Amino acid sequence: MSENEATTDKIERLITPLETHPPAPEFVAGTKVPADLRERAAADRLGYWAEQARELEWATPFTEVLDWSNAPFAKWFADGELNASVNCLDRHVAAGRGDRVAIHFVGEPGDTRDVTYAELHREVQRAANVLESLGVTAGDRVAIYLPMIPETVVAMLACARIGAVHSVIFGGFSSDAIRQRVDDAGAKLVITANGSNRKGRVLPLKEAVDAALERPGHTVEHVLVIERPDHEVEWVEGRDLRWHDAMAAADDVHEARAFGAEHPLFILYTSGTTGTPKGLLHTTGGYLAQVAATHRTSFDLRDDDVYWCTADVGWVTGHSYIVYGPLANGATQVMYEGAHDFPTLDRWFEIVERYGVTIFYAAPTAIRGFMRSGREIPQRHDLSSIRLLGSVGEPINPEAWEWYREVIGGGTAPIVDTWWQTETGAHMIAPLPTQDALKAGSGQKPVPGVVVEVIAEDGRRVDPGEMGLLTITEPWPAMARGIWGDDDRFIETYWSQFPGRYFAGDGAGVDLDGDLWLLGRVDDVMNVSGHRLSTAEIEGALVEHRFTAEAAVVGAADETTGQAVVAFVVLKESQREAAAETDAVAALREWVGRIIGRIARPRDLYIVDELPKTRSGKIMRRLLKDVAEGRQVGDTSTLTDASVMQAIAGGVAGGAHDD
Ligand code: PRX
Repeated sequence: MSENEATTDKIERLITPLETHPPAPEFVAGTKVPADLRERAAADRLGYWAEQARELEWATPFTEVLDWSNAPFAKWFADGELNASVNCLDRHVAAGRGDRVAIHFVGEPGDTRDVTYAELHREVQRAANVLESLGVTAGDRVAIYLPMIPETVVAMLACARIGAVHSVIFGGFSSDAIRQRVDDAGAKLVITANGSNRKGRVLPLKEAVDAALERPGHTVEHVLVIERPDHEVEWVEGRDLRWHDAMAAADDVHEARAFGAEHPLFILYTSGTTGTPKGLLHTTGGYLAQVAATHRTSFDLRDDDVYWCTADVGWVTGHSYIVYGPLANGATQVMYEGAHDFPTLDRWFEIVERYGVTIFYAAPTAIRGFMRSGREIPQRHDLSSIRLLGSVGEPINPEAWEWYREVIGGGTAPIVDTWWQTETGAHMIAPLPTQDALKAGSGQKPVPGVVVEVIAEDGRRVDPGEMGLLTITEPWPAMARGIWGDDDRFIETYWSQFPGRYFAGDGAGVDLDGDLWLLGRVDDVMNVSGHRLSTAEIEGALVEHRFTAEAAVVGAADETTGQAVVAFVVLKESQREAAAETDAVAALREWVGRIIGRIARPRDLYIVDELPKTRSGKIMRRLLKDVAEGRQVGDTSTLTDASVMQAIAGGVAGGAHDD
């Protein structure tokens, strides 16, 4: 499909009346979400957020709601004091819900473990004592590089309990990426595991941490190592400590102290349009209030729900909708360690069946993958417990939406498409399943208490039926409080393009009913399987290789993963011979995996003689995207040499790439 056809298709959706799915009366019966929630929030936005925040337990109640005097650095509930781990654990235990299962854990090898709120509470207290015994105190940064296991939740909540700031690093990132993040945050401690079970193999997490810390000059004093797979690791005496030994020796009572609502809770790194990842900073009270509120309202949470979010805890979805939201709400959830297709594609559905999952929250890439492999696989299982489906991380195409509802949701489950970002901390756009008539593929409305506007480049609000840029016009409680160590970059990146507004980097359309359609990024950020990657960062990695003179990376449309990384590389004259003697394409792909992580490896990598550039030397990524997506190359009139594109397109069509 050409770019024009794709655009026309999107506009069609905005101006064509579509079939809607109103909530079924039997679905709405018994909901705890008030029918007038949205109206109430619109009438008194700050009052609404204060009411949501009062659902938390405060050691010192707040009297101020929002202080926006130092915009864009917000303060919410600033004179209140609370402890995030007390809100996720102690208060549920104190209320007599200690025996409730917090986490039904399923390991990839097939082992299972149910962790109750009382058990999680004890483990977190022990871990808080361990951290304090290692000299970690409030405000210190702790890097966490762990698999999807309950100990990861324990580690995060133990940091929160003592006021230390966690920085979780996704297990798919390389040692270089770990080092970059550890250095930027000045982490004092790293918590890792001897490995992670992945598709029947062991991902060597500890080795990656060792490699990251090999070069001196870092701030890490200790590495705490959890033993998970059967896998021997090297030991650095004096630095490395066994988690299990330390936990066994620690007391399981830890008196939690309350912190100011604006006390930092975590840093989470994410890719932007430049080469270095940004550490988004989130604080305690506002973040917790919004993740808990949206977890209740977007998913219509009820007492007997068994909730499952399949995201990895290394991404913001895992922070907000595995750890803080569900646990603050005292929910029961499933946590799965491994890959969705290991040992077979039945895995997720077996888990749904086994635990009677009622709310299932996943990314469109996974859904499209299952669509391709066929409905017989889910249909082999009893999925009738599912009453609500969620989607996150990337635009969900209407076909995938319909399939998800019909095959996984039994033709009746509402689908809540949740749009948000690492920067926003919590859901920002999502339908209310108890009251909105759903439209396949639309995020529909801002969540109660959030105000957005789709505008044109010139700042004018777009009319219904038009596409534009998504902006957020009012501060919200879970918003990032900045980029760690770089206030200017925070202002510049998000608040300068349209003064007074947060610009999300996403395109959006507004249909004739005023509903929102998220259209993906409009900048050089790619979205591969719902994972955020930066073109600049991958280009930076490629040019670090001795073969590379120049590199350009684009995100090309991909039927399953949404987008895929496609790279174009010009070799150094002096290296052509060396490159010819090896498989340069494979070597460069592996290199990106080593520098950034496996997730960033280009799907296709083309060696080309030249990159298309304008007279001012700017690389024309748009043209490369045409080639990568197999389209007729667009307007080349601004190129210094139009024949460059013919050569590239010819080379690509000739199959000069790696499959
Ligand atoms: O482009 C949007 C896309 O993911 C970006 C945010 O990525 P990240 O910070 O990694 O957070 C992902 C999980 C929330 C956004 O700028 N995105 C996220 N959710 C959706 C989406 N695009 C369309 N529809 C969504 N529901």
